[in-house]
Amino acid sequence: MATIALTINGKKHSLNVDPQMPLLWAIRDVVGLKGTKFGCGMAQCGSCTVHLNGAPIRSCVTPVSAVANKKITTIEGIGTETNLHPVQQAWIDEQVPQCGYCQSGQIMTAVALLNSKPKPTDADIDAAMQGNLCRCGTYARIRKAIHRAAESSDKPTATTGK
Ligand code: FES
Ligand code: FES
Repeated sequence: MATIALTINGKKHSLNVDPQMPLLWAIRDVVGLKGTKFGCGMAQCGSCTVHLNGAPIRSCVTPVSAVANKKITTIEGIGTETNLHPVQQAWIDEQVPQCGYCQSGQIMTAVALLNSKPKPTDADIDAAMQGNLCRCGTYARIRKAIHRAAESSDKPTATTGK
């Protein structure tokens, strides 16, 4: 066990955990943020995607010791029910989710894409999103929602990490 300092959504946490514990476990089971989902546990599906210093990572295969003192943002950190991120609003407007299980990871990857490329092409979207699997096959609506978010007047902003 070791004391690991994590900053998640702008809030500092001091965790007494195994340094090899996957970040996903720490986020969900220790910190208690349940929006990030476990899918495969092998970096194959994207459902556990969070941002590390603004870039998408697979939290299921990232040891907590590797992200100590770095800025982690989860789905809970990009918007609130009363102040949705433009990507979240576009997801609602396009009725993207089906079962919803993969969607937290999809949104986190989409937000990172739009932060780095505010007007992505279909090819850009497909390249960025290819590692996020959806068993319900919502890919066409995801692509539409990303275009919608890109076109929205509220330009997507960098992850706040608030
Ligand atoms: S649970 Fe992490 S990539 Fe599938
Ligand atoms: S909405 Fe069901 S897995 Fe993607």
